[in-house]
Amino acid sequence: MNFFDELVIPPSHNHVMLLKYMLTISLLLFIPYISMMLGATFISTHFSKKGKTEGNNLFHRFAKDIVEKLTITKSAELALGTIPALSTFFAYAQLLYTAKTISVGMLALAVVLFIISFVFIYKYRNTFKLEGIMKAFKSISNTEALKSDTDDAKEIKEFEETNVAVNRTSGTVGKWLLLTASYIFAGTMALASSPDKWGTTGNVLQIIFSWQTLFSFMALISLAGIITGAAIMFFFFSWNGGVKHMDDSYAALVKGVAGKIALASGIMFPLMLLISYAYMPQVSQSPTVFYYMVVVLIISLILGNFIYSMFKNSDTSSATVVFVLVFVLVTFNVIKDQLAFGNAIQQNTTEITKIAEEHEKEIKGKTMGSTGIDAEAIFTQKCSACHKFDQKLVGPPYNETVLKYNGDVQKLADYIFNPQKIDPAYPPMPNQGLKKKEANAMAKWLMDKVNKK
Ligand code: HEC
Repeated sequence: MNFFDELVIPPSHNHVMLLKYMLTISLLLFIPYISMMLGATFISTHFSKKGKTEGNNLFHRFAKDIVEKLTITKSAELALGTIPALSTFFAYAQLLYTAKTISVGMLALAVVLFIISFVFIYKYRNTFKLEGIMKAFKSISNTEALKSDTDDAKEIKEFEETNVAVNRTSGTVGKWLLLTASYIFAGTMALASSPDKWGTTGNVLQIIFSWQTLFSFMALISLAGIITGAAIMFFFFSWNGGVKHMDDSYAALVKGVAGKIALASGIMFPLMLLISYAYMPQVSQSPTVFYYMVVVLIISLILGNFIYSMFKNSDTSSATVVFVLVFVLVTFNVIKDQLAFGNAIQQNTTEITKIAEEHEKEIKGKTMGSTGIDAEAIFTQKCSACHKFDQKLVGPPYNETVLKYNGDVQKLADYIFNPQKIDPAYPPMPNQGLKKKEANAMAKWLMDKVNKK
């Protein structure tokens, strides 16, 4: 994309390495977090609606608890959602500099959708809090007054109604935006790793209606399911002593939901892993990518076993182990994907580092002007008639005189710029009429040469 090419500075070789690490770390934060958000909002809105239609308080409570636990806090939204999303975009834009693909533009779209969805989900989460505050408020205030027809009572009633409406819309809008963003995100990631498709994929629709997108999305969703199931168990039953005041029926509901989701996703994930591997283009594949894929497969099977026994025996004691294993799984999976991506863009990175080197030279030439000076040429033209490094000619050998300056480039440059009488054994050195900058470059060059010997 030309627009981004203008915006982004081509990264140098070291910079490319750094970007790759940054990308991996960002995704390690981002993927689990949006997974939990996806799981939490879909389950929550489902149970919120069900709770209302069936008048079941447990469902309603679950709807509230799950968004609160799994989306963590507003600052987590920033630290684990928004910032990693932006840095992922930043890294992609740089790594795909000059690549003829719409991936970067698509990723920008996904990131914007993610951030908007976070705002809605935050609102959704907040409506539950307000509802709780209202309930507490009502329990301590005069019920007769609340039922009466005064303006205050009306206002309170209106506020509650708006809150319910906002809860419904923000939840619905948030979850679908999040799902759309995830779909585009999965498609972009898959496309970025398939340089063979860059030329033929020219618009959003081609990304949306592609098998590759569908399968990598399914892989993401099944991973999200595992993460969500494990996160529910962890946050409800283990972390900080779990959720307070859970009675048996509530605990059974929570375990049931988490179990179904984790098991179904646990079965789907290995399948999706294999299918998306089969869809991986030749250029992205390498033995290392394959080994990582196998490791991910093995971890997912071990994890599946844990999850199965956890739910079969309704035993939450391994919730923490499962949660940790899930992160190991995510880590290996992200590394696998990033290795494949690295292979896919290898040609591109060689190209951009070349451009970066030229770019750097250009900038230096403009701002410092010093690298434009060829000290060696000046030496041959202006100094070599009287100087050698190791022998006396008209002037003394550099190897003897330059060392006296003890690395003081400025002092040596001053001498070259304007020579003074020094050694009685020699005639004075005639001023060579160098410019200040040239004298500096000469001094530096001489020091480097002499020190190397
Ligand atoms: C016409 C001959 C001649 C040329 C050309 C010449 N030098 Fe010299 N240079 C001398 C002589 C003679 C001395 C000794 C001066 C003294 O000790 O007072 C000297 C001394 C020096 C010294 C030693 C100063 C010290 O502290 O002892 C340096 C360094 C030096 N020249 C660098 C250069 C450089 C760089 C150039 C080219 C840009 C150059 N010279 C060109 C004749 C020359």
